[in-house]
Amino acid sequence: MLSAVKADITTLQVDAIVNAANNSLLGGGGVDGAIHRAAGPDLLNECRKLGGCATGDARITKGWRLPAKYVIHTVGPVWHGGGRGEAELLASCYRRSLELASGAGARSIAFPSISTGVYGYPTEQAARIAVSTVREELEKYPGIEEVVFCCFSEGDRAVYDKLLSQLSPFMEGV
Ligand code: AR6
Repeated sequence: MLSAVKADITTLQVDAIVNAANNSLLGGGGVDGAIHRAAGPDLLNECRKLGGCATGDARITKGWRLPAKYVIHTVGPVWHGGGRGEAELLASCYRRSLELASGAGARSIAFPSISTGVYGYPTEQAARIAVSTVREELEKYPGIEEVVFCCFSEGDRAVYDKLLSQLSPFMEGV
């Protein structure tokens, strides 16, 4: 149900992919740029109507030319050293994305490693938050059957694989 792959997220055949966007939702570099290029100009037109998005929140659009039916655009925190609520904001990105995916009836969703590129969040700390938040939240959404952590390097994938091989706190002692 939870897995890590090394892939370009735009190629994944899942119901929803998550975009690590910025507050404008009008595109950018990194995974955001790749998603807009692959989805085509209709995605930007749809995003223009959304009026932006707060950090830690998310918005949903169609996937347009992507194999995925939906794109969930979430805005991760910029890393400032950890003292500005970054961890809580990052967890909120995962929570809000799952909530929107579930509301749209998505059964499968892929996440990139939000905030760990241009926004500078340390990968291992971000991955811990990603895995623990998703594990916790999935209890609420039985309709979501598959969550893929889509990594862009083998190193990132190894970090996720290690975390996924560890028992979740909920299962300890069972
Ligand atoms: N598929 C999967 N992961 C990818 C891809 C891809 N095609 N391309 C990059 N990554 P980043 P952020 C990984 O910088 O840190 C944009 O300009 C990348 O290696 O895309 O949240 C937005 O508009 C890294 O592990 O997002 C914002 O301004 C992860 O995706 C800002 O960057 C996130 O890196 C957001 O910064």
